[in-house]
Amino acid sequence: MNGYDIIAIDGPAGAGKSTISKELARRLGYLYLDTGAMYRAVAWAARHNGVDVGEEKALLGLCNKLRLEFQGNHILVNGKDVSSLIRTPEIDRLSSAVSRVAVVRKYLTGIQRELGRQGNIVAEGRDMGTVVFPQATHKIFLTASPEERARRRKRQLEDQGEKVKYEEVLAQIEVRDRADSTRSIAPLRAAPDCIIIDSSNLTIEEVLKKIGNFIQIKK
Ligand code: DC
Repeated sequence: MNGYDIIAIDGPAGAGKSTISKELARRLGYLYLDTGAMYRAVAWAARHNGVDVGEEKALLGLCNKLRLEFQGNHILVNGKDVSSLIRTPEIDRLSSAVSRVAVVRKYLTGIQRELGRQGNIVAEGRDMGTVVFPQATHKIFLTASPEERARRRKRQLEDQGEKVKYEEVLAQIEVRDRADSTRSIAPLRAAPDCIIIDSSNLTIEEVLKKIGNFIQIKK
């Protein structure tokens, strides 16, 4: 341990992790680490370089040539800002595929731990409390019903100008949930020492309040 606080926030897609983690980091003055964006950036780079996301060796070669950087809430791949390019349904699917590949997880876990040594952080993902930072100061598993998550995702995509059907979004969420929680390495699951918050019927402020109470109690 290095004396820095690590707040691990895990949970399925659409549970509100990004909104909550960003705001929590802002209020606490901590660094915000969006590890989903890192998997998305690798998926984008694979797509961009014609690398098959099922090819472990090719992905290793790709990772060795990648330079991932955060600039505020933007993510750069070898100097190119890909922040908006990684938020598409295609990258949703490809990032889920690359996240099942051991060499990609090993590569990103190393970078994430390195970032965790640089200061207090709020780290958001699927395996923050279970694998990357098992020593985290606080662990939160943020979840919501698939239906509520589909409604939120649909709104988000529509805000980006994408027209989508609720049923399709729900089906995709269910497929991705299954893939993320049944994969053999670092599956999505709640750490034994986490608190579970179901955000289905809570506002952002209510979730932040619950987290605030938890952090104060344990600190
Ligand atoms: O949180 P997100 O939707 O941006 O994540 C994109 C994909 O990356 C998703 O399929 C889950 C995966 N992921 C992961 O396996 N481990 C993490 N720590 C973060 C994301």
